[in-house]
Amino acid sequence: MSQILNGFSAQNIKKAAALLKKGEPVVFPTETVYGLGANVFNKKSVAKIFEIKERPFFDPIIVHIASLKQLEEVAEVKDERVYTLAQHFWPGPLTLILPKKKKVPYLVTAGLETVGVRMPRNIIALSLIEELGAPIAAPSANLFSQLSPTKVEHVEKQIGHKVKIILDGGKTLYGVESTILLMEETPVVLRAGALEIEEIEKVIGPVLLKKKMPKVLAPGNLKTHYSPQKPLIIIKSEEEIKNWKERNKKIGFLAFQKIKNKKFFADYKILSAKGDLKEAASNFFDYLHQLDEGPAEIIFAEIVPEVGLGKAIMERLNKATHQ
Ligand code: TXA
Ligand code: MG
Repeated sequence: MSQILNGFSAQNIKKAAALLKKGEPVVFPTETVYGLGANVFNKKSVAKIFEIKERPFFDPIIVHIASLKQLEEVAEVKDERVYTLAQHFWPGPLTLILPKKKKVPYLVTAGLETVGVRMPRNIIALSLIEELGAPIAAPSANLFSQLSPTKVEHVEKQIGHKVKIILDGGKTLYGVESTILLMEETPVVLRAGALEIEEIEKVIGPVLLKKKMPKVLAPGNLKTHYSPQKPLIIIKSEEEIKNWKERNKKIGFLAFQKIKNKKFFADYKILSAKGDLKEAASNFFDYLHQLDEGPAEIIFAEIVPEVGLGKAIMERLNKATHQ
């Protein structure tokens, strides 16, 4: 069983860093979701991440840094816009895909010549990287293709028996993963995430949205990802549920702002009563976890407006469906 340690204690950061130095992965919070980290330069340790997550090796891992010096240690930075983006959005939920430096193991990049890098906006994550003295390669701390963890309980449930230390930082700020940007002449958004695409465009101009990823470019963008165990159906509005034959089952409802007929549902969650997409995103994975564990046999999820963080929510919702 894992030890859950308060991540805000300097002593616990030291403990976790010591474990990382020995080659043992640890779980830590970021501002997006919890990550399962290893020293990026320690291949054996990175391999353990794949093992713990039951993740296929064709899925590359994001490298977390605490300084621009570390950026240059892992990536080739020729594009000035990288520094502009870093200045505006780091530390923060933006991952940049850049040409990799030789010393970054191919295991981290799944054989690609590029590496995904980001500087997390979380004091525990940054302290841990600094204490280790090296960047930390870390995917989300969930089992492959399962829901991402936004709280320690989510981590415990999925991989708690396989890791030694979980640093507790409470509920993560955003609750959805970072936005991934491939730095080409016209940059391409490979994954909509916690940083709004509109914000990126304000700084570097128009970017492309890649909805259907070529397999090799972002192998992690498999069609079903973030899936709950129960069937999940996306609907436009509550009324639509009447038309589904599954309405005879015990229904769980993930609503955006409100529910008219609460009695109709065996279980329900409202993402944001105010209609605030930031709040909705931060609740998204947590509520899906809860609906997945609750009494419902099937989950209906209502669409949200596809602006700002709504894009990130809808992308994850689409991946969570089983059809
Ligand atoms: O917010 C986040 O990004 C969280 C926290 C822990 O930092 N991490 C995260 O990692 O979501 P993960 O492994 O669950 O998702 C990383 C995604 C994968 O879909 C992977 O395919 C993509 O990033 N990726 C990583 N390196 C890449 C590369 N060189 N080229 C294309 N895609 C890459
Ligand atoms: Mg993930």
